[in-house]
Amino acid sequence: MYSKIFSRIYNEFGWNYYPEAFAGQLLTWLTANAPQAQRILDLGCGTGVLCRILRKHGIAADGVDLSENMVAIAREADPEGRYDVGDMTVYEPEGRYDIVTCTGDAVNHLTDTAAVEKMFRKVHSYLEEGGVFIFDLLNETEVPDPEPIEFRYDEHTDASLQMTKDEAGIVTLKVRVKEDGENVLEETVTERLYGTEIIRGLLENAGFAQIAFAHRLLEEGKDVPTWYVTAEKP
Ligand SMILES: C[S@@+](CC[C@H](N)C(=O)[O-])C[C@H]1O[C@@H](n2cnc3c(N)ncnc32)[C@H](O)[C@@H]1O
Repeated sequence: MYSKIFSRIYNEFGWNYYPEAFAGQLLTWLTANAPQAQRILDLGCGTGVLCRILRKHGIAADGVDLSENMVAIAREADPEGRYDVGDMTVYEPEGRYDIVTCTGDAVNHLTDTAAVEKMFRKVHSYLEEGGVFIFDLLNETEVPDPEPIEFRYDEHTDASLQMTKDEAGIVTLKVRVKEDGENVLEETVTERLYGTEIIRGLLENAGFAQIAFAHRLLEEGKDVPTWYVTAEKP
């Protein structure tokens, strides 16, 4: 999952739009809700887009991701930043954080509830008291019909994305890339859909309070299908 070529394609195909958009919203959210926040940890940081933007705004943001290929891109783009390769279900950072984020469906990449609960407990252990865990969750309605979506990257490179969902809520994202008509990559990413009540229960078990689910992070703005979840460490 997230091989070298897939990570490059992820970085170059414009999927950075999502963390860029989230970064803008998070900066506004922080001003209104946690202006004192100094340290942020981004779990499943991917190519480091969110951390880079936060760091440009003077926030000490660190990232961790399971894929060494995604982390390599993050480190190259931001050599002064801290980007660790690690599994967020067991990762133990050196210090504590005011805010922990986990976006771009990274939670859905954990395909069993035990792994999600383990990760929630870890996050709770290194959040400061009063700190907030902010993450997004893929919503069932975001998984469209399994019609492939075709992209033309340049005159030599075409890609297609196909998302399917089974009855158990397992989502399979198949990515195919062709260069001059030859297959150069076929990669499958597996995610799991979780209902909000399951996630609420796991957060409560881990010790979180003030748990809220909404279709947007900010009060103003348009609703989107994605769930934004905020949970506080009392
Ligand atoms: C769809 S990408 C989102 C990346 C980034 N958050 C963004 O918004 O661009 C999901 C990321 O989660 C990472 N990931 C999946 N399972 C993980 C785990 N157990 N621990 C840490 N990262 C994980 C993947 O390697 C991938 O980079």
